[in-house]
Amino acid sequence: MTDIVKERQNHWLPRIEEELDRATANCGSMHPLLLSAMRYSLLDAGKRIRPILTLECCRAAGGNPEDAMPFACGVEMIHTYSLIHDDLPCMDDDDLRRGKPSCHVRFGEANALLAGDALQPLAFETMLAGSRIRPELTVRAAAVLAHACGAAGMVGGQIIDLENEGRHVGLDELRVMDSGKTGAIIKAACVMGVIAANGSDEMIAVAERYAENIGIAFQITDDILDVTSTAEVLGKPVESDIGNDKSTYVSLLGLEKAREEAARHTALAMEAVAPLGEGAEFLARFAEMLAGRIK
Ligand code: IPE
Ligand code: IPE
Ligand code: MG
Ligand code: MG
Ligand code: MG
Repeated sequence: MTDIVKERQNHWLPRIEEELDRATANCGSMHPLLLSAMRYSLLDAGKRIRPILTLECCRAAGGNPEDAMPFACGVEMIHTYSLIHDDLPCMDDDDLRRGKPSCHVRFGEANALLAGDALQPLAFETMLAGSRIRPELTVRAAAVLAHACGAAGMVGGQIIDLENEGRHVGLDELRVMDSGKTGAIIKAACVMGVIAANGSDEMIAVAERYAENIGIAFQITDDILDVTSTAEVLGKPVESDIGNDKSTYVSLLGLEKAREEAARHTALAMEAVAPLGEGAEFLARFAEMLAGRIK
């Protein structure tokens, strides 16, 4: 890992944790069990890839990254809700997440479902009530995230993922599925960062191109790790995809070709930010780090 990536991760990880903790502190009106389940899944773990992308895309677009913090927290809440629901018995049925028992294993299925449900509006409340930037930019960012996490994005991708269980699908179908279930939220994370900086349309287009490619590379690497890693390292079960007869890049192309495809998309992501020069060094190095990640 290059220094700039480590350095910024060391800076952001405790800051993000602090803000997520603050956003879920009991204000007296939240049900204690529900809040415990939400905080159990949200705090203490997770690589925080999406919030870091929001903060750093804001910086690359010339903004103050702290201005993007409410958006960064919002995207991590949405992501965490997607993981809680993804692990449920009616979805992937996985009992380990972020190195501990999945939310439904610890709190029961109904409570996990509700913890996920409650994290969704909290994401938007955090963004809308916590933003210190111009209201029209805040509304625009919230609309981007709302679109990305719903039927046209993450949830739309998740239903294709379930439909594709046990089927042979082509590369194009896989791309559509992954750009929904994983790519959409990563793209929203990047675009919201640019919006927080009041970046230009050109900058939004650069962020979109970057994010589309890291999104695909990210899911391919996730699929690879599902067959090559261990539960201890990943903090989630391995061979979950095989067990559920999922369609993945690995099931379609095999490990070697899947690795090539991840490398190709990582290179495209790095190319997308190259015109930004030094200001985008972190984003380029981050894409590289993600491709080589072991968890
Ligand atoms: C896992 O995301 C789900 C996918 C979209 C592949 P991450 O690998 O970012 O999980 P955390 O947030 O670090 O737990
Ligand atoms: C999950 O894809 C995507 C979302 C949670 C939206 P996976 O099902 O592959 O993610 P993991 O491997 O369980 O983290
Ligand atoms: Mg899944
Ligand atoms: Mg899963
Ligand atoms: Mg996976």
